Amino acid sequence: MGTVILGIESSCDDTSAAIVQDRLILSNVIAGQQVHIKYGGVVPELASRAHQQNIVPVVDQALNEAGISKSDIDAVAFTRGPGLLGSLLVGTSFTKGFTAALGIPMIEVNHLQAHILVHFIQSDQPLDNSPRFPFLCLLVSGGHTQLVVVKDHYRMEIIGKTIDDAAGEAFDKCAKLLGLPYPGGPHVDRLAASGNAQKFTFNKPRIKGFDFSFSGLKTSFLYFLRDQLKTNPDFIEQNKADLAASLQRTIVDILMGNLIRAANETGIRHIALAGGVSANSGLRSALKAEATQQGWDVYIPPLVYSTDNAAMIAINGYYKFLKGDFASEDIAPLARMYF
Ligand code: KG4
Ligand code: ZN
Repeated sequence: MGTVILGIESSCDDTSAAIVQDRLILSNVIAGQQVHIKYGGVVPELASRAHQQNIVPVVDQALNEAGISKSDIDAVAFTRGPGLLGSLLVGTSFTKGFTAALGIPMIEVNHLQAHILVHFIQSDQPLDNSPRFPFLCLLVSGGHTQLVVVKDHYRMEIIGKTIDDAAGEAFDKCAKLLGLPYPGGPHVDRLAASGNAQKFTFNKPRIKGFDFSFSGLKTSFLYFLRDQLKTNPDFIEQNKADLAASLQRTIVDILMGNLIRAANETGIRHIALAGGVSANSGLRSALKAEATQQGWDVYIPPLVYSTDNAAMIAINGYYKFLKGDFASEDIAPLARMYF
């Protein structure tokens, strides 16, 4: 029946389990955590407790939906890092117990590499063809913003990264200033659709190389709002859509600016997006428009595979399984993890 991998994702506030049969996704169950909403951000201790409650039912559901029994599973792939240590610990410990009981190997996965390999999933979602190597991936998540040259399924080189906030953090922190719920990125996206993106201008960083910076934008946004609110206490309410659209345009411009330079300097014409912020409609359309101008082949994940999911962990596990790259049973999760 091919190689069957169970993938487990628990790095932040989504508990997810997925089954792949070779590259085909048979199930991908995601349990979000509503408990953080009232705090305006993820509370690590509450996240790990919710993972503990969710993990068994989520895995059960993934097996049921896939029509797979435990004895069909060849290996379990889990997110080792980066992420919240307490959250990672739940997925890691579950994997250790589950694989020990079944006598099958476990496979450690880097969450960021998994976001990138999402492009190799086969599913009933309308996915573009898988990218050809080498391709350039703009990886934009809540905690990371990177430009990665992907040489093959195993070898990836980071050529640019954020020196402070990630793009997702810029969306979320500025959204909070607008009074929007956490995570703010999707709310900004929704509001931006009816706003004027040229109405307001915010600072863009000037940084050498392909690195990113978003903390200046956040400060510029904060000071701008503070000044406007002094003379008009209703400024945010009256301009919410235009503020969201202008903010989104600025973030997308910063991301696209570096991406275009990196594509030109590396000569790579196959360009992929990955990570939660790749769900952003402004970024998706900016990339498509640029692709037409530059003659790029672009790869944009379907929404369900943009944000955190275990399908990407399982597909990464599949490629490591092919190489026999298994983890030892004393493996520990890592809050920071590099590749
Ligand atoms: O990859 P992800 O699900 O989790 C991490 O690995 O961090 O990314 C989450 C981030 C959050 O910052 C969230 O606001 C952002 O992705 N995000 C968006 C959109 N959907 C999710 N940002 C902008 N527009 C969206 N539509
Ligand atoms: Zn992620």
